[in-house]
Amino acid sequence: MQKTLSVIGLGKLGLGMAACLADKGHYVIGVDIDKKVIDAVNAGESPLYEPVLSDLIERSRGRLIATDDYEKAVKQSSVIFIFVGTPSEQDGGFSTRYIAPVAAEIGKHLKQTADFKVIALRSTILPGTTERVVKPILEETSGKLCGRDFGLCYNPEILALGSVIRDFLNPDVVTIGESDKVSGDMLADIYTATCENNPPIVRTSLTNAEIAKISLNVFLTVKMSFANTIAEICEKVPGGDVDKVSEILGCDRRIGRKFLTGATRYGGPCFPRDTKAFIAFTRQIGCQALLANAADQVNDLQNGRIIETIIQKVGPLKGKQVALLGLTYKPDTDIVLESAALGVTQIFVQEGALLKVFDPAGIENTRQVLPGNSIEYTESIEQCLRDTELCIVLTPWKEFKQLTPQDFIREMKTPVILDCWRLYNNKDFRDGVDYIALGVEGSRPC
Ligand SMILES: NC(=O)c1ccc[n+]([C@@H]2O[C@H](COP(=O)([O-])OP(=O)(O)OC[C@H]3O[C@@H](n4cnc5c(N)ncnc54)[C@H](O)[C@@H]3O)[C@@H](O)[C@H]2O)c1
Repeated sequence: MQKTLSVIGLGKLGLGMAACLADKGHYVIGVDIDKKVIDAVNAGESPLYEPVLSDLIERSRGRLIATDDYEKAVKQSSVIFIFVGTPSEQDGGFSTRYIAPVAAEIGKHLKQTADFKVIALRSTILPGTTERVVKPILEETSGKLCGRDFGLCYNPEILALGSVIRDFLNPDVVTIGESDKVSGDMLADIYTATCENNPPIVRTSLTNAEIAKISLNVFLTVKMSFANTIAEICEKVPGGDVDKVSEILGCDRRIGRKFLTGATRYGGPCFPRDTKAFIAFTRQIGCQALLANAADQVNDLQNGRIIETIIQKVGPLKGKQVALLGLTYKPDTDIVLESAALGVTQIFVQEGALLKVFDPAGIENTRQVLPGNSIEYTESIEQCLRDTELCIVLTPWKEFKQLTPQDFIREMKTPVILDCWRLYNNKDFRDGVDYIALGVEGSRPC
């Protein structure tokens, strides 16, 4: 049955969710404090880069409205999802400085309503936050009792930038931490009707849902760092090839192939900071997060591994004309936060290399973080490669995968290529180019 729902916080994640719910026929009130976001959504446009999102917003006009009016959102909706940011604190934990005022606003208007509404928190938080921070604010400001007069759920988002829409509609699991059964039922009904893949819906306490959310991302960082360690081993053992090793490991159903690629460091807005938050949280409660710590440390070594490989191949970087393909932390996003490219670029600049960079979506965001004259931002792959002596492929965009040896030979002064993601086939990249694949010792047998 179609409902009126609210999503508070129309950011990288919240807007995708709001658009999907509206596309499935619900009437969705999106609340944000950013006027640019509100205006864009109401004009049927996406204010941010995310595949498919623009189409959904356009298609949902009339069913998706954006506003800064909390009263309207709370009064009209049966479920209010909170999806505001939770920036990192100095000690690595997550701040609730955006969640707390949102909860207070919701509580204020909840006071004026008679019907039972559910508040579902979706932001990433440390375990205990829903019960200890959000619930008391809602109860105090509304004068109502959680579980009796209104419901509270922790319903974490487990999706990836670049595939927000697909992941939201096809999740591996829907996690519902609930204050009471009625609230859990209301959320479960929404997901049953919205998801296209009939996912398992796991219902539990608020705390277990919170621990599961943060643990999931940390498990993936451990897996990625382990794969990067295997990649480094393969580079040092004659005949080693991380793709073959990962293929074998990945066939084991207890392990699985995903996140075992062995390439650059993990980056973006979630993996590094969730791991640090997990470490901070375990410290607070007197546990030791040895594996999370190790994943973090291995991750910090990855840019150095790339630079070392380059110096071994081409010698000192000073004065070298270098093309760098890929700035974002992964394809299909414009986010460069904590990306391998940011760190590698900074080292190149410090070492005095003459650097040209290109990315299908991440140029503007990189320019904001690394302004100045030491980097030439280019508008095409060809322009980036032109007259350079070395090319490093740092993000596996499909635009880069399509390149042939001729593309490099035609533009570059000396076509030396370091492929961090092994996008190219060694057989094709043998003649006329000097091709090095990270995670592989020497050349692969053709
Ligand atoms: N980015 C990811 O890949 C990812 C994945 C899973 C979970 N998360 C978590 O989801 C949460 C949201 O992340 P995001 O990347 O969408 O954040 P974001 O910064 O892109 O968006 C947050 C939005 O909330 C709005 N906002 C702030 N205060 C507000 C208020 N008082 N009222 C209404 N709107 C307000 C901001 O204007 C912004 O549009 C975070 O906790 C994040 O850790 C992120």
